[in-house]
Amino acid sequence: MAYYIGIDLGTSAVKMLMMDNNGEIIKSVSKEYPLYFPQAGWSEQNPEDWWIAVKDGLKELIADYDKSMIGGISFGGQMHGLVMLDKDDKVIRPAILWNDGRSTKQCEYLNNIIGKETLSEYTANIAFAGFTAPKILWVKENEPDNFARINKIMLPKDYLAYMLTGVFSTDVSDASGTLLFDVKNRCWSQEMCTICGITEEMLPKVYESYEGIGTVLHQVANELGINAEVKVAAGASDNAAAAVATGTVGEGKCNLSLGTSGTVFISSDTFRADENNGLHSFCDANGKYHLMGCMLSAASCNKWWMEDILYTKDYEKEQSIIENLGENQVYFLPYLMGERSPYNNPDARGTFIGMSMDTGRGHMTQAVLEGVAFAFRDMLEISKKSGIKVETTKVCGGGAKSRLWLRILANVLNLRLEIPEREEGPSLGAAMLAAVACGEYKTVEEAAEKIVKIKEFVEPEKKLVENYDRCYETFRQIYPACKGIYDLIKNETRRKER
Ligand code: XUL
Repeated sequence: MAYYIGIDLGTSAVKMLMMDNNGEIIKSVSKEYPLYFPQAGWSEQNPEDWWIAVKDGLKELIADYDKSMIGGISFGGQMHGLVMLDKDDKVIRPAILWNDGRSTKQCEYLNNIIGKETLSEYTANIAFAGFTAPKILWVKENEPDNFARINKIMLPKDYLAYMLTGVFSTDVSDASGTLLFDVKNRCWSQEMCTICGITEEMLPKVYESYEGIGTVLHQVANELGINAEVKVAAGASDNAAAAVATGTVGEGKCNLSLGTSGTVFISSDTFRADENNGLHSFCDANGKYHLMGCMLSAASCNKWWMEDILYTKDYEKEQSIIENLGENQVYFLPYLMGERSPYNNPDARGTFIGMSMDTGRGHMTQAVLEGVAFAFRDMLEISKKSGIKVETTKVCGGGAKSRLWLRILANVLNLRLEIPEREEGPSLGAAMLAAVACGEYKTVEEAAEKIVKIKEFVEPEKKLVENYDRCYETFRQIYPACKGIYDLIKNETRRKER
């Protein structure tokens, strides 16, 4: 008998769980930390807060169990965040997160002056404001003193691995989202380092997600009361870890993550890059590849609408008044933090349209749920063009708890949804990667086959699919019509800031 611990470093909280060698979840713990928005469109967190939360959470997680049974630990983590340490391993400034839109100018430079084709040749991807390389350029231009102090650059979950083991490491799936990584060849891109004014020595050593990077530092092991021999595996991006946890490993398998962000994740046995880079082309946690699209606000739109606007936490009650699916006249564009896939526009904004005197709060709530589903469809439409066939999809993340939202998704996407028995997502995937690293399973595929179980299916309904097809045709015309207005709003905001 052995226990494996998965740590998922999320944006609002770190979620940790302990799983036994049969894949049963023994206990889970969640610890929150602050998220800062120092300016409109900026998003930051303190890496030190993450580490404090992880240590507190780990102590609680293992308190009532035999600590000598802990075999391995691994991670899933929010992607793309820029963590910089100086020569004394001090955090130089707060981490700039995946949903931070400040690097528009640097993205324009990368995409237009360096050029999308060149970027795609070096990395298989183009620049998005959330990615790490444009953020490095932003620091170089706007905070030259901080830039001069850089000794190590790492991703959020890699900071945890560094604090736990002292090993400066990352994994291929997370490295893929930096725009410094040659995805096809699974190594850092020398050319991209030069473009960003950094050296490869500043970047961590890259491992496959299921590889061991080392063991726990003695001092930390003592503090936590665990054995210093516990093996630590590199882990994966939160999306790749969630894919492991939902069994999304293997050609054409798809997972939708309905969390703070919304992602479409399609596993691929071979390297592929979408012709227009509408979807990201990344390495996968099973040693292969995946395509991914990311909307910056998904379940967070519903949380915003419920808690910040309607002042309620009773999501079920608000959703219970919704009827007439596929007939709503109100539409919502879910771009509260700007949008990544497919528009690559940090200046896009949330938008309601179509209200009349008959519109009630139920229609608005429905529009929010539907708007997120339509935005998922935008990403899946791109995947169709890349030739990969998706026939069913798994769904995970907090939003997947809503039966109504699942029904809307199945019909908007015209896909059969498979709902995994376990809702944990990235933290479970991380524990599974730790188990593979410790030899409990030979491969990630074997772990997924043995551990993942589907508890139910949600089937599309013919009539609703037709109705939602019509609604989607309307939805997809709203962004192009509003684009110029978002630009005006951006200019007005900049004028006020000056
Ligand atoms: C993916 C992305 C988000 C974060 C959320 O590209 O930016 O899904 O990983 O934690």
